[in-house]
Amino acid sequence: MDRIQLISLLLKKGLLVSPETLEEIEKNFDEDIFSGFSSEEIEKSLVFQFNKHNLNEKKEDTKFSVEIIKSYSFEPKKREVSDFVNYFKARYNQIKEILHGRPELQNVISINRGLSKKKNDRVSIIGMISDKRITKNGNILLTLEDPTGQINVLITKNKSLSNLFDEIVFDEIVGVSGVVGDKILFADSLYFPELPLSKEFKKINDEVYAAFIGDIHIGSKMFLEEDFKKFIEWINCNYGNQNQKEVAKKTKYLFIVGDLVDGIGIYPEQDKELNIKDITKQYDLCAYYISQIRKDIKIIICPGNHDALRLSEPQPVLDKVFAKLLWDIPNVMMVSNPSLINIHKTESFPGFDVLLYHGYSFDYYISNVDTIRKGGGYDRADLIMKFLLNKRHLAPSHSSTLYLPLEYDPLVIDKIPDFFVSGHLHKSSISSYNNISLICSSCWQSKTLFQEKMGHHPEPSRVPIINLKTRAMVLMNFGD
Ligand SMILES: [Fe+2]
Ligand SMILES: [Fe+2]
Repeated sequence: MDRIQLISLLLKKGLLVSPETLEEIEKNFDEDIFSGFSSEEIEKSLVFQFNKHNLNEKKEDTKFSVEIIKSYSFEPKKREVSDFVNYFKARYNQIKEILHGRPELQNVISINRGLSKKKNDRVSIIGMISDKRITKNGNILLTLEDPTGQINVLITKNKSLSNLFDEIVFDEIVGVSGVVGDKILFADSLYFPELPLSKEFKKINDEVYAAFIGDIHIGSKMFLEEDFKKFIEWINCNYGNQNQKEVAKKTKYLFIVGDLVDGIGIYPEQDKELNIKDITKQYDLCAYYISQIRKDIKIIICPGNHDALRLSEPQPVLDKVFAKLLWDIPNVMMVSNPSLINIHKTESFPGFDVLLYHGYSFDYYISNVDTIRKGGGYDRADLIMKFLLNKRHLAPSHSSTLYLPLEYDPLVIDKIPDFFVSGHLHKSSISSYNNISLICSSCWQSKTLFQEKMGHHPEPSRVPIINLKTRAMVLMNFGD
């Protein structure tokens, strides 16, 4: 039976057949087996094969699920001082709840009550760091605040805690234990919220991959179009060696972590470095590339600081007018920055939780935390990501990012993810910390004058790829 006969038989049964399904049926159609069968029986068998294939296809598709757990869409409104007070209260309570989980901080009292305790009484308190300094004698003096008051906390230099000075950042919320002095607490223990050690290392049985890109910066003269085209070719299984093509075939999730376009007026004299000076056209070209990606890949997009949105976090989904063509792509899913996504959930597997954060706050911690700056700064996204995970906050210091004062702090890392994914630094990094995969995407833009001045050394055209079966990560290089 030839192809035309097959199609017409199926059509007679009211079944529209896709080229893929047809190929599958043809492969399984053994003329000899059917010899001697009536045409009605052959039809029945074809219908059975058609249904079997289609059902399999559907079953497979539900395996590649994407569920949005947290994506924010708050509109900015005129804010009063009280909004900021409430916002810090909310943050305090959210982090306090995390700190309460530590056995050492079960019996925490308020700062006000701590101040009224007798000299030499042992107390534990939880407060926000409103000041930190080194005294003349080389001790650490912190000022901690909670909704009831504030207290000075002294950590003497002989204690192992004195190394912590650099690790403590303004406005973060910590726990301390020690003995009461005269309007002061002499602390011997300091607790960051940190991560529980019991995080499960989730894996799946099938070999499926997720890829991570970001900082495409379309519109910039430095956009590395040829490298980006190679990436699109790869994900469509047309580029790379046999092994790389196999990985592409099994890649089912693609995350794009912000800065899709270069934007307009983002940094001084940016227009000299733009070849597309219209924001909609920048997004149109971006959509042109993204629309070429295989439709069986789920694409999850969050914005970054170069996208045409307010900078205050949480940044909402990409603009529906400027980025209309991206919104029109059927396999694209838009989420806010930050956001929490669950992928690959099945009846027997809870899925992987992916925390997406572009990384606008990272610059602050590179300049203000010695261990990060001296440890490699812009080249070491992993150090910043670990640091923030231990603070359980994406931007603990008030001035490290712009934010909306809400009744709930969406930058608190209350649910511990399986993957923490960021971008912004234009240099990729893959590592693992307490069973959390830390992934920073690279970029598709060569060094700008601004980055030159700032002393950055971007490493473009790299793509982190994770194997969900083994959690092994690799970097694929589409550049030189
Ligand atoms: Fe960027
Ligand atoms: Fe950025």
